Amino acid sequence: MTIKPLIILPDPLLRQLSKPLERVDDPLRKLADDMLETMYDAPGIGLAAIQIGEPLRMLVIDLAKEDEKPAPQVFINPEVLESSEERSVYEEGCLSIPDYYAEVERPASVRVKFLDRDGKEQEITADGLLATCLQHEIDHLNGVLFIDHISKLKRDMVVKKFKKLAKDRPPSRMVG
Ligand code: NI
Repeated sequence: MTIKPLIILPDPLLRQLSKPLERVDDPLRKLADDMLETMYDAPGIGLAAIQIGEPLRMLVIDLAKEDEKPAPQVFINPEVLESSEERSVYEEGCLSIPDYYAEVERPASVRVKFLDRDGKEQEITADGLLATCLQHEIDHLNGVLFIDHISKLKRDMVVKKFKKLAKDRPPSRMVG
């Protein structure tokens, strides 16, 4: 497993639409393992493939607490089938927007269809933190960030700050 560099705001890759996977094979499972390794290292509780520069519809989540055994979950081609009318608010952060947190309101529960790491079709109804995390990560697959759910004023401030930081920081990717 390899820890990959994270794509950080304002990298335009974060706005790219990720492509559905046609098959679940070993290279894809290897990518899922690299994503988990990168997420644990950060540390974070969820990561979408685009956050390590792969525009593919896959995300990983692990909501186990520090003193619990790891519980990695892989979601391939996830799709929200149903969202509850009831909403809930969580303070969210994002590995691509380090050290920024804001309260986001989303449907409290969602029904999601996906392929697991064996390529088997699964359906789950998620609520609580898992519902929020799934929606946050599925947003990434559509080029949407959690700051798109806060006020424009706050969003503009964050984007401005990260643009300035990017200017002061050496390029994270070599393009050859
Ligand atoms: Ni994120």
